[in-house]
Amino acid sequence: MSRPLATAGWSLAAFLSMGVAIYSYRYLPQVGPMADGVLANLFARPWLMVHAGGAATALLLGPFQFLPALRRRAPRVHRYAGRAYAVACLVGGVSGLVLAMGTTAGTIAAVGFGLLAPAWIYTTAQGWLTARARRFDEHRRWMIRSFALTFAAVTLRLYLPIGIMAGLTFEQIYVATAWISWIPNLLVVELWMRRGTLFRPLAAA
Ligand code: HEM
Repeated sequence: MSRPLATAGWSLAAFLSMGVAIYSYRYLPQVGPMADGVLANLFARPWLMVHAGGAATALLLGPFQFLPALRRRAPRVHRYAGRAYAVACLVGGVSGLVLAMGTTAGTIAAVGFGLLAPAWIYTTAQGWLTARARRFDEHRRWMIRSFALTFAAVTLRLYLPIGIMAGLTFEQIYVATAWISWIPNLLVVELWMRRGTLFRPLAAA
């Protein structure tokens, strides 16, 4: 990928992540507009606050961990922020799993969110373990997967208005986002990471 394209992609992802994260913190003091359907979650208290706090923190920290300049110039900042990111994912993931079981959006949504949570915890745990084992190439790959899942919070909020504009009801698009907010994200980063090996045979032919 060319440098200007990578910078533009990172800037857009960071901007959207920070916007969703800062807006989501409203669930902690419970101020501002909050979705009635989500407040009706069987386990909203206290798990919605725990979830919003953990997940939003992961979304806020994540983009900066991918900046090569930060890793080079301030490796200690990268290490501490990385630990905070991993703990935030764990808190967001465990509470996300509890919320998945209490959603009022039905079984299909519950299973979609319920699979996202362990996938998020697993990819982040692998990222942490490979960093501790100093297997940095694998660490980079696991953290890209982890953030692709963290970014589900952004893609979910992009698909909701798109689905409404496409003529779906809020309930229909909400159930669909429990799946499409994260599976395509994982596929995109997986293909992007494999592009070298995928396209090499073609280049050699
Ligand atoms: C990636 C793993 C995640 C899982 C498994 C997950 C799961 C869930 C579930 C099940 C709900 C309740 C939905 C309902 O009752 O219908 C919820 C709500 C919520 N989640 Fe997550 N979530 C994840 C990531 C995130 C991230 C990264 C953020 C970052 C800000 C976030 C912020 C929120 C907020 C603010 C709500 C309240 C609903 C709203 O206002 O849109 N979640 N989440």
